Amino acid sequence: MTYQELYIYANQKLKEALCDQDSVPYEVRCLISDILGIRHYDFPALRTQSPDKDDESRFIMAVERRAAGVPLQYITGRQIFMGREYDVGEGVLIPRDDTEVAVRACMSALGKNDCPKLIDLCSGSGIIPITLAGDYPRADITALELYDEAFCFLQKNIAAHHAANVKPLQADVFSAYNRFEDGCFDLIVSNPPYIRSDELSNLQTEVQCEPRSALDGGDDGLTFYRAIAELWLDKLRSGGTVVLEIGEEQAQAVSRLLMMNNIVNITVLKDIQDLDRVIIGTKK
Ligand SMILES: C[S@@+](CC[C@H](N)C(=O)[O-])C[C@H]1O[C@@H](n2cnc3c(N)ncnc32)[C@H](O)[C@@H]1O
Repeated sequence: MTYQELYIYANQKLKEALCDQDSVPYEVRCLISDILGIRHYDFPALRTQSPDKDDESRFIMAVERRAAGVPLQYITGRQIFMGREYDVGEGVLIPRDDTEVAVRACMSALGKNDCPKLIDLCSGSGIIPITLAGDYPRADITALELYDEAFCFLQKNIAAHHAANVKPLQADVFSAYNRFEDGCFDLIVSNPPYIRSDELSNLQTEVQCEPRSALDGGDDGLTFYRAIAELWLDKLRSGGTVVLEIGEEQAQAVSRLLMMNNIVNITVLKDIQDLDRVIIGTKK
């Protein structure tokens, strides 16, 4: 097949398969550039030529996987967050733009404290600690993640971004608090799993390809917030900050958990869609 025929094939296949028709031209361009290695502006000159058979098969397989609902980022193996590119793949949550609200909240809480000690609980690909390390190269940052596949991506991304001040820690958020002294952190941040277990089967196909362990927040969606509030907030120094990404209907419940555990000045921040997205508070 020529490049032009492959282009037409991919457009048709994805138009038939994807709900979001507006994203089809963009996705086809990404697949052509990532799988066939052809940049957008080189394409017109190559239309009538053909790739070798291996590249053609890899491209067709990528289009078929995408049509079957595999997220584009798992096929291309990358996602951009706040200007940096991260390796992603099956086994790790694909970074979402909304998490920028949590990262910006951390930055404004840290302000000019240029060597803070902080921990990111449930780090996944590492977007939160790696972005913070970029702005705070002298910070002492721990990135905690339990699951093997996600932890591999975390390590890979830390190395790729030369974030030498981010220490990856493979551990369970429900027990690892024991390893840290009370009052040792200036900031605790987390974007934990927060979807109610009974909602998981209603999520769109692409999200269902992501690891359940990254999404499932237990019966009421609050299991991880309860653990963070009850087990980790003693590790925050007086005057220190907690920043939690939340689901759009969780602000009240999570605020209550924080209040019950010595957190004051609680503020809810919205995302671009005007939905509650982040809670920030200060340790008494
Ligand atoms: C919602 S994802 C967030 C990932 C990343 N922080 C981000 O914002 O893209 C939650 C992460 O928590 C991890 N996780 C789930 N259970 C955990 C546990 N018990 N201890 C530590 N990490 C856990 C998952 O593997 C997943 O990477």
